Amino acid sequence: EIHIPIDTNPVTLTRSIMMDQRRNPDAKGDLTQILNSIMLACKFVSNVVRKAGISSLYGLAGSQNVQGEAQKPIDIIANDIFINSLKFSNKIAALVSEEEDKIYIMGGAESGKYIIAFDPLDGSSNIDVNVSIGSIFAIWKRPDASAPVSARDFLRNGTEIECAGYCIYGSSTQLVLATKNGKVDCFTLDNSIGDFILTHPNMKIPERGHIYSVNEGNSLFWDPAITHFVDSVKHPEDGNPYSLRYVGSMVSDVHRTLLYGGIFMYPADSKSPHGKLRLLYEVLPMSFITELAGGRATDGKRRLLDTVPEHIHQRSPCYIGSPYEISQLEAAYASLT
Ligand code: AHG
Ligand code: MN
Ligand code: MN
Ligand code: MN
Repeated sequence: EIHIPIDTNPVTLTRSIMMDQRRNPDAKGDLTQILNSIMLACKFVSNVVRKAGISSLYGLAGSQNVQGEAQKPIDIIANDIFINSLKFSNKIAALVSEEEDKIYIMGGAESGKYIIAFDPLDGSSNIDVNVSIGSIFAIWKRPDASAPVSARDFLRNGTEIECAGYCIYGSSTQLVLATKNGKVDCFTLDNSIGDFILTHPNMKIPERGHIYSVNEGNSLFWDPAITHFVDSVKHPEDGNPYSLRYVGSMVSDVHRTLLYGGIFMYPADSKSPHGKLRLLYEVLPMSFITELAGGRATDGKRRLLDTVPEHIHQRSPCYIGSPYEISQLEAAYASLT
């Protein structure tokens, strides 16, 4: 007879957020409210994603976003879900979303201390083929909560992030949350109780991995440093080549890199001179999380968290992963540019 241990005292995300607040005596619970509304949004989006096929949410919405991408119905639905849930928290002064051209000022809460940037649905090219997708967010405190909120509030580097996270709608729905000077915890949604359970406390990336993750289909456009680095892991001196794993959803490729080690790369190339991924709601949150998990994140020459975006949808090349592979990558850039 198998004894299945029932944890009668699980650490849920709700409890973890409350414990974070208790640890912070002067906290007024604003961040707690925001994180609770993000958690609700992630559960809601997870539900929509799993019904997409049935509710015929595949295909194109027929509109374009400011990035020039054709929007998918779930891009728009997820965006609305996050905006409405954050509006309800009444603790956000303004938000930036991949799917909103300009900053979105929250009526009434503009004097709020916090601002948020998010990618409501990451990896939307994978929706129709049932491959894991996700949502990504980063939260900053406003430098001056008494001044009217503007885009300038968002042009901040990643070291000022208060907390960041992502949710993966995969074989299970998992929410990874990282807080400043804190740790990286991964929670798995238990649909039967509608809460996330702590399953990977204090995630730490392996010092070195054996997987590289890049879209090799762009290798024709790569600069010599990237070509050199990728060749070095495909034809290593020890005759033991790395594996290639590339899902095409940043959340999945970064999450696997955090757990198994190695390197995720979205290079700048002759086709996209600033790379493809956006600083505010993809590159900076994922770099923040990876550094707190003991990893590193660079644009080839400098630490990504030190990058200050010039505009809210600015893109950046990014290399995110284990310290060993990142240092190898930087050495390739140092010698070949
Ligand atoms: P989004 O769906 O939010 O626009 O992001 C897609 C991004 C990211 O998830 C992924 O790493 C990258 O696009 C894949 O790009 P390629 O298909 O060009 O490799
Ligand atoms: Mn997109
Ligand atoms: Mn994305
Ligand atoms: Mn997106």
